[in-house]
Amino acid sequence: MIKCLSTTPFNDQKPGTSGLRKKVRVFQQPHYAENFIQSVFDSLEGFEGKTLVLGGDGRFLNRDVIQIALKMAAANGFGRVLVGKGGILSTPAASHLIRSSGAFGGLVLSASHNPGGPDEDFGIKYNVSNGGPAPEKVTDTIHARTLSIDSYRILEAADVDIDTPGMSRLGEMTVEIVDPVAGYADLMESLFDFGAIRAMIAEGFTLSFDAMSAVTGPYAVEILEKRLGAPSGTVRNATPLPDFGHHHPDPNLVHARELYDRMMGEDAPDFGAASDGDGDRNLIIGRHSYVTPSDSLAVLAANAHLAPGYALGLKGIARSMPTSGAADRVAQRLGIPLYETPTGWKFFGNLLDAGMATICGEESAGTGSDHVREKDGIWAVLLWLNIMAVRRQGVAQILAEHWAAYGRNYYARHDYEGIADDKADALMAALRDKLAALPGTANSGGKIKSADDFAYTDPTDRSVSRNQGVRILFEDGSRMVFRLSGTGTEGATLRVYIERYVGSDGDLGMATADALEPLVRAAQEVADISGFTGMERPSVIT
Ligand code: G6P
Ligand code: ZN
Repeated sequence: MIKCLSTTPFNDQKPGTSGLRKKVRVFQQPHYAENFIQSVFDSLEGFEGKTLVLGGDGRFLNRDVIQIALKMAAANGFGRVLVGKGGILSTPAASHLIRSSGAFGGLVLSASHNPGGPDEDFGIKYNVSNGGPAPEKVTDTIHARTLSIDSYRILEAADVDIDTPGMSRLGEMTVEIVDPVAGYADLMESLFDFGAIRAMIAEGFTLSFDAMSAVTGPYAVEILEKRLGAPSGTVRNATPLPDFGHHHPDPNLVHARELYDRMMGEDAPDFGAASDGDGDRNLIIGRHSYVTPSDSLAVLAANAHLAPGYALGLKGIARSMPTSGAADRVAQRLGIPLYETPTGWKFFGNLLDAGMATICGEESAGTGSDHVREKDGIWAVLLWLNIMAVRRQGVAQILAEHWAAYGRNYYARHDYEGIADDKADALMAALRDKLAALPGTANSGGKIKSADDFAYTDPTDRSVSRNQGVRILFEDGSRMVFRLSGTGTEGATLRVYIERYVGSDGDLGMATADALEPLVRAAQEVADISGFTGMERPSVIT
């Protein structure tokens, strides 16, 4: 029986770039998840009888919200819901399933790299039929609806068994429990030379993948261990846990410390990697050799043609503005366009749909291509492996040859976390005020060539996004970027992105901190970070 229950709006359901993300306790309030899901459905047109994809990263509350979403989808008139077995779907796998099944859209339950558990975070994101996150005009409609909603529709029925593959009925709707891994693994096998990678591993190449007790475990076991023949145990923390084993599933040098230490140790394997809670980010570390996400994008773009899926070459490369210019030099040499977008994966979607870019990447550890409409952690790992298998070289050698050919963009991000909002805003305002006066002046970083607040005009629909970060460019090609994080949960986080380019004939072997030291001083001089924040040094350096 379909019930129509009355409800009252919650005033905190504005979806961010990655959907609605809140503490589990917030989602546990009566009607909270229901209100949001109904607001999503109310904002869509023409889904009657169509397919919805449903799954998440397995975090606490995943299974409960899947049951709610199933019953609400049935009551709202969807024809079919495809659910990943056990409620599991990584973000890239959900994107692929939406595309390959011709679904109307999908609900992805995740709070990405945020911790999980009863006291941690949960999230609901709606993706549209191209497999990518809903564009802002859709999320704005959803938000408006959350503020006026007065009822939601839900089927009164027993819970669906989501652990047994197969089809069943829920009211008038079909529920299909699908293997969350197989289709995605097949897609990877169609893009990469699994034979060459398998041969490299059989010859003794060693690797370690840390799934951080999050969603990529089953994907990595199937692909790396089963299909590519890596020994069992190659994938660590392989079982998705509701609380990620109390780990923070963010693959950076702080939270993936164990992997980092192993990769820097005596017995380091040849290759190490990790992904985040929902499987869209990646961390790549060679034996004794960390790869910045910006360099990773450049190396992947320069070598992608070595993988069968990209043998015909790339149409273009896209990177977010704060990501280093390393990829620009690759695009230039390949004679293809380079698109510089604001931070946020959603800006790549239009370029991919329009066939203007093939590979995209961000300094925040996201890389991907036109195979789906989300960034994809395991995809990046496999492209690296494919490149190494063809070139028969390790990470350090590939990086060294890359820098020798293109020069090196020394790069670091300094984060100042937990700043009071008003202080962070005041710092940015002061910086913006002096932009016009900066060109031609000099500081510890050198002579300033230009300074602006980044604005982006989407080449496909001419939409304009302003105030996307302050950039200061020096005569020698060095750069500083200042922006406030759009994803923080407590106070403001100031991100300072520092980059110095050294040509192929320069010193390519410096320690990053040494190479950037004058620019770090310059950032302090220009923005008076310690004056505004009271912080003498960043809380995190990546
Ligand atoms: C999320 C988005 C990324 C984006 C990142 C930036 O992970 O999916 O596309 O790069 O947030 O976060 P920030 O905190 O710098 O705004
Ligand atoms: Zn993520």
